[in-house]
Amino acid sequence: METVVSGIRSTGNLHLGNYYGAIQNFIKMQHEYNCYFFIADLHSLTTHPTPANLHNNVKQVLVEYLAAGIDPEKATIYVQSDVPEVAELYLYLNMNAYLGELERSTSFKDKVRAQPDNVNAGLLTYPVLMAADIIIHKATKVPVGKDQEQHLEMARTFGNRFNRLYNNDYFPEPYAFTYGSNLVKIPGLDGKGKMGKSEGEGNAVYLSDTPEVIRKKVMRAVTDSGPTVENQEKPQEIQNLFDLMKVVSTEDTYKHFDNLYNTMQVRYGDLKKQLAEDMVNATAPIRERINDIAGDSVYLSRVASLGAEKARESAGRTIREVREIIGFRKF
Ligand code: TRP
Repeated sequence: METVVSGIRSTGNLHLGNYYGAIQNFIKMQHEYNCYFFIADLHSLTTHPTPANLHNNVKQVLVEYLAAGIDPEKATIYVQSDVPEVAELYLYLNMNAYLGELERSTSFKDKVRAQPDNVNAGLLTYPVLMAADIIIHKATKVPVGKDQEQHLEMARTFGNRFNRLYNNDYFPEPYAFTYGSNLVKIPGLDGKGKMGKSEGEGNAVYLSDTPEVIRKKVMRAVTDSGPTVENQEKPQEIQNLFDLMKVVSTEDTYKHFDNLYNTMQVRYGDLKKQLAEDMVNATAPIRERINDIAGDSVYLSRVASLGAEKARESAGRTIREVREIIGFRKF
């Protein structure tokens, strides 16, 4: 069975876009691949979080992934910092990662621009740590978006360089992986592109949002002044609302409002009210599980230990072999 690794940023809650896109695919993947999903808390240190924030962020992400349906008995879900073998491999890979190639990485250049007062070595070697995350489990498939393509290429470079240096084929090459057909695209509420947390306040609906917050966000969604011709093409902001409806509402509801739109009788207030209620209902079971799991520290600690144990078994095997290859041998 092929191995899949994916790192989850330890900041930010899951929104509907994450849930209906990547997470649904993770949930299917866990039955078909040897999956390692981890919370990238070591990576998050580049921005110097306070201890309390760091811990709360990791907890929130873990809780939401479990609530969304990642099964800790099927996939290995773990916290990166619970697996010190990752940091060890990162150290080894750093010895063969060159300043020039790290400086040329797009994500590094973006970070330098974004935080010029905190250009630390962790930022520079972020792709090395990411390579360690992946190749420590000898993964070949990494379900990430386009923005991570360059990082994956670097992971292949570092793995291959290790192989060449020690004249073996120890590490396989990891490639970006799109599960099934195309990802479902979930639009945001700002009338523009897809749902995302960097697109501004109110654009994204989070799984942890209360029903009141969801209603408020949906009622504020951008609309136009209404159709002026029968059966006209919907402008983007209206199409977005219908696309969201397609995901959270019944087919009858969708058809009902589509028909009202086509006959120029639609009232956006009604449409949004319906959409908001359907969103509230669609997310209700997850919201409930989020609250249950967040309050169950025994369960959380059991899940984290189990994940760490399974991840360390795999990572420990790699590190033992890597040490042997490098020449750290027992006397
Ligand atoms: N860089 C990834 C992101 O920003 C997170 C990440 C860290 C990751 N390590 C990884 C993703 C390993 C996949 C595999 O989203």
